[in-house]
Amino acid sequence: MNTPALHTVGLVKVYQAGGGLPVHAVRGIDLQVARGEFVAIMGPSGSGKSTLVHMLGGLDVRTSGEIWIDGRRADTLNESAWAILRRQKIGFVFQFFNLVDNMTVADNVELPALLAGASPKHARERREYLLGKLKLTDKADSAPGRLSGGEQQRVALARALANQPQVLLADEPTGNLDSSNTRDVLSLLGEVHREGQTIVMVTHEARVAGLADRVVTLMDGQIIDDGVIAPTRRRKTGPGDVVELRG
Ligand SMILES: Nc1ncnc2c1ncn2[C@@H]1O[C@H](COP(=O)(O)OP(=O)(O)OP(=O)(O)O)[C@@H](O)[C@H]1O
Ligand SMILES: [Mg+2]
Repeated sequence: MNTPALHTVGLVKVYQAGGGLPVHAVRGIDLQVARGEFVAIMGPSGSGKSTLVHMLGGLDVRTSGEIWIDGRRADTLNESAWAILRRQKIGFVFQFFNLVDNMTVADNVELPALLAGASPKHARERREYLLGKLKLTDKADSAPGRLSGGEQQRVALARALANQPQVLLADEPTGNLDSSNTRDVLSLLGEVHREGQTIVMVTHEARVAGLADRVVTLMDGQIIDDGVIAPTRRRKTGPGDVVELRG
């Protein structure tokens, strides 16, 4: 019951670039994320944020340490077992979204739910809900390649949420968005979070992080700060405030 949605023990990633010095991207991270918690990961460029969330989603192999997803050891899984775990439990929004271009936007969003065994009706309803929330309904029949970067990013978010995954991992999901689209994305994230969605989200923007329950700050591959956001502060920062973020 109290099993964390996700936790890591002494997680380490060392990249061994050909010929060069090894890069210690993640240096011993102990992170625990409770079910239903919304954790923002912050820190300067190069501090290991993407490396961390990629390892959490099994997209990058850890050098040492442990990863547990929903009470199950995950770092020892092989690639195909990871693929199954990911399909069942994890939604992922990358810094660079990889949509399937020979499928429509609608199919891109529905596919993960269908693969995970949802009924076609349920998958379609979920897709309609998510595309509607992200103001993409009129793009449902387009190929992703015909969309703008911000639209593609929102499709990637809809796809990641299609499954109602145990954990949503997001690497700067508002990185390419203007203030109005940022507001739509944050309002959707807030909504699914209220419904119990666990979220681990990398962001550069303090105001975006203000939506989270907790902010974990990385520096040089280590956690240098891990703080629960005071409820009073949280109440003041809603998606509506994000309009002031850019421009
Ligand atoms: N495939 C790779 N091979 C070698 N080094 C890498 C690789 N990927 C990342 N790194 C290095 O690991 C460190 C952490 O990179 P990472 O992408 O995790 O940073 P980040 O915090 O996500 O930065 P940003 O905010 O710019 O996205 C950096 O020094 C980076 O150069
Ligand atoms: Mg990154």
